[in-house]
Amino acid sequence: PNLQMEMEDVGGLRRGNCRAKGAAPGFKVAILGAAGGIGQPLAMLMKMKPLVSVLHLYDVVNTPGVTADISHMDTGAVAQLEDALTGMDLVIIPAGVPRKPGMTRDDLFNINAGIVKTLCEAIAKCCPNAIVNLISNPVNSTVPIAAEVFKKAGTFDPKRLLGVTMLDVVRANTFVAEVLGLDPRDVDVPVVGGHAGVTILPLLSQVKPACSFTNKEIDYLTDRIQNGGTEVVEAKAGAGSATLSMAYAAVKFADACLRSLRGDAGVVECAFVASQVTELPFFASKVRLGRGGVEEIYPLGPLNEYERVGLDKAKKELAASIQKGVSFIRK
Ligand code: NAI
Repeated sequence: PNLQMEMEDVGGLRRGNCRAKGAAPGFKVAILGAAGGIGQPLAMLMKMKPLVSVLHLYDVVNTPGVTADISHMDTGAVAQLEDALTGMDLVIIPAGVPRKPGMTRDDLFNINAGIVKTLCEAIAKCCPNAIVNLISNPVNSTVPIAAEVFKKAGTFDPKRLLGVTMLDVVRANTFVAEVLGLDPRDVDVPVVGGHAGVTILPLLSQVKPACSFTNKEIDYLTDRIQNGGTEVVEAKAGAGSATLSMAYAAVKFADACLRSLRGDAGVVECAFVASQVTELPFFASKVRLGRGGVEEIYPLGPLNEYERVGLDKAKKELAASIQKGVSFIRK
């Protein structure tokens, strides 16, 4: 499908060339799924980022309204509807249905796999060099889907495809800080594996600042970090999953990508990427970002027995989810 044509069909409102005089120099960012629960606050927060000069918003519904609204913010970036993907440096994808109580992320596969496939085909065509931040669930399967689509199109660069697991890190920092009585901004918890249930593996033995936990605290924290998403799904009671904390996490991650595109050194975040850290083709771990995307993937470091058991469980589920994504395109 031609995404640009769809853009014109959506709402029929063209913003025209509304680039403000003196618009800040910076990067061009597109959000696909911009009218959704995550998309709207994400668009607002990205419009406030000094490193963003042009923000393209795309959705299958309500895009003109969101764009008109966001475009009145007196920030440097210009919000545009047209040419959703052409010339983009970074594409963020929060398109797709969220969970309702009782659902796993994998239950979203049937709907979201097709959406991610369609959007990635358009990216391969219009901005094959863009960095892609994929949020749509199940991330453990949608990232392999995106990779297969890009491979088919001949545009796959594993360095530029990143599954967003930042919310797991954000939650881990928050919950660990609560237990330790620290400011969450001073806490750094590596979270590796994937983005669903037992595949979310917080490495509590590697928390910074160095600290120790009782067995009870480790059980509590591991369970809460792995099921933080479900906590929100249940509290929202049918109205969706995490949107505000996700938008916050997505902006934190996107900003890290943009800073490294600008040339900042030493930008390190966790992400779900093509990886050789384990025998699996994809895995989330700490990565160093640079101008080309993922420039270095860090090994997991020393794990304790609890974490080794967790890793085995995570790998088992991850392998199946990755295979499911790959088969969806290769079938
Ligand atoms: P939502 O339903 O509020 O918004 C999704 C938006 O995607 C809607 O506006 C919809 O019109 C749009 N959309 C659907 N098909 C599209 C297409 N082909 N092209 C462009 N836009 C399309 O859902 P919400 O709450 O914003 O969640 C979005 C996704 O993010 C879900 O799959 C959810 O599971 C996932 N998510 C991921 C997290 C993570 O940590 N990676 C955390 C929370 C949610």
